[in-house]
Amino acid sequence: MRDAPVDPTSTAAWGRLTELAEAYEPDLRSWFAQDAGRVERLTFGAGDLVVDLSKALLDADVLAALLDLADEVGLAERREAMFRGEHINVTEDRAVLHTALRLLPDATLVVDGQDVVADVHEVLERVYAFAEQVRSGAWTGVTGERIRTVVNIGIGGSDLGPVMAYEALAAYRQDGLECRFISNIDPTDAATTLSGLDPATTLFIVSSKTFGTLETLTNARLAKAWLLEGLTGQDEADAVRRHFVAVSTALDKVADFGIDPANAFGFWDWVGGRYSMDSAIGTSLVVAIGPDRFTELLAGFHAMDEHFRTTETAHNVPALMGLLNVWYTNFLGAQTHAVLPYAQLLHRFPAYLQQLTMESNGKGVRWDGTPVTADTGEVFWGEPGTNGQHAFYQLIHQGTRLIPADFIAFANPSYPLQDGDTDVHELFLANFLAQTRALAFGKTADEVRAEGTAEAVVPARVFEGNRPTTSIIAPELTPSVLGQLIALYEHLTFVQGVVWGIDSFDQWGVELGKQLAQQVGPAIAGDADALAEQDASTRALIAYYQEHRRR
Ligand code: F6P
Repeated sequence: MRDAPVDPTSTAAWGRLTELAEAYEPDLRSWFAQDAGRVERLTFGAGDLVVDLSKALLDADVLAALLDLADEVGLAERREAMFRGEHINVTEDRAVLHTALRLLPDATLVVDGQDVVADVHEVLERVYAFAEQVRSGAWTGVTGERIRTVVNIGIGGSDLGPVMAYEALAAYRQDGLECRFISNIDPTDAATTLSGLDPATTLFIVSSKTFGTLETLTNARLAKAWLLEGLTGQDEADAVRRHFVAVSTALDKVADFGIDPANAFGFWDWVGGRYSMDSAIGTSLVVAIGPDRFTELLAGFHAMDEHFRTTETAHNVPALMGLLNVWYTNFLGAQTHAVLPYAQLLHRFPAYLQQLTMESNGKGVRWDGTPVTADTGEVFWGEPGTNGQHAFYQLIHQGTRLIPADFIAFANPSYPLQDGDTDVHELFLANFLAQTRALAFGKTADEVRAEGTAEAVVPARVFEGNRPTTSIIAPELTPSVLGQLIALYEHLTFVQGVVWGIDSFDQWGVELGKQLAQQVGPAIAGDADALAEQDASTRALIAYYQEHRRR
């Protein structure tokens, strides 16, 4: 798959989209008034998700041109190559097969001579057996007590997915069994996360695809020291064996760390870190919600995979959302994209999506090494509603920048509550509906005046409208629905990457900082030669540190 990507800007569709953008005067008020079929035509189903694109800045001409663009860049061929296991991650010469993590056990997918589905289910069964032991109390610590807290140590893809899903599926957790997460090398993270825990009832899962990540290995060593200090008198090797398990593709390094290979769960280089939460990297989540619920999560992923793989582009939700993002980014000048869950339990979902989307598509060269020909990788960000309404929505409503926003809501709350006669979830949903309506249709000067507003204040109270939103709604935040949502964003990220001709599955951009941290470390620690190699600004900052550090 090293063939040169199609330059999207050279396609007829790109030319057409450029013309359409130049003359573009979106008017959602009249589009709705004049077109009774708009909502039905632009609302799509994918699994349990209903996705309403009617409040997007999309009309028939733009949609037709975006579908042509997908054809011209060869989206369908690239998608099939991914699902087949071709090495579409060209800079690392790897297959990209997170979709194989959720194939059913009776499926077969031979990649590079190996049936990966059999491998996936062999590990999954071991993870499930381990989780059942912890959940039932059969797995005990070295003192014979059952495990009460599972601490996942990992960073990036080895942290964000498990944390996000642990929070999202709070309603499905087993009582009396808590998960905590240590990711940052800021020692405060380990210190505060371990605070109050009893080593005798704490089990660590060291999660690292490479088992070479500085943050994770440092935190794992800190955890080991904390454990052994708290279990003085116990046999050390035994304590580590009962209190540490690992998840990695580098099982040799796991053994070097002192973790029993019997307590290690593997995965494969064809699973990218940010696409790995449904591999053994999700072990903490399996412990929390149990194998049955995790299987439902995988089924949700798979349902969206099948939708993406088999549905024609005109009704293919990840394809449409990805293409729409290209329209906003490359033709309407959007630089960011908000994700606004109306579900408090999805409070880590935007952070999870930041790695998924930005580590995937924040690239300046294409998969053949040539420069990109258009802007790539918009900034994804967000917070749950309604908190965001009282913080940054002002800018989305009345600022000078175009910020497309995805609103995510559920018909049923995870925790229903009444305030007297009022169903609080209905109040919550009223806010979701009000916001998407206000953004789309705004408020004219005449409408403001009709409320008796003083003329001098009228301009400040006008809402232009035509601020695009996508509404995603589902019955309830179940494990399956969460899997569908994640896979939706995985695939729309892929679609954008294909249009731009980039390898969405490498992440070379994080390497330089890692290398330099190794060089700067000795300089901070007082090595004069290392200090001399630093630039003037870095030397000055180190001098500040040396002066202020309490010894
Ligand atoms: O540095 C970026 C990165 O490689 C991510 O892609 C990855 O998810 C994270 O670091 C953690 O890597 P690992 O799982 O190998 O510790």
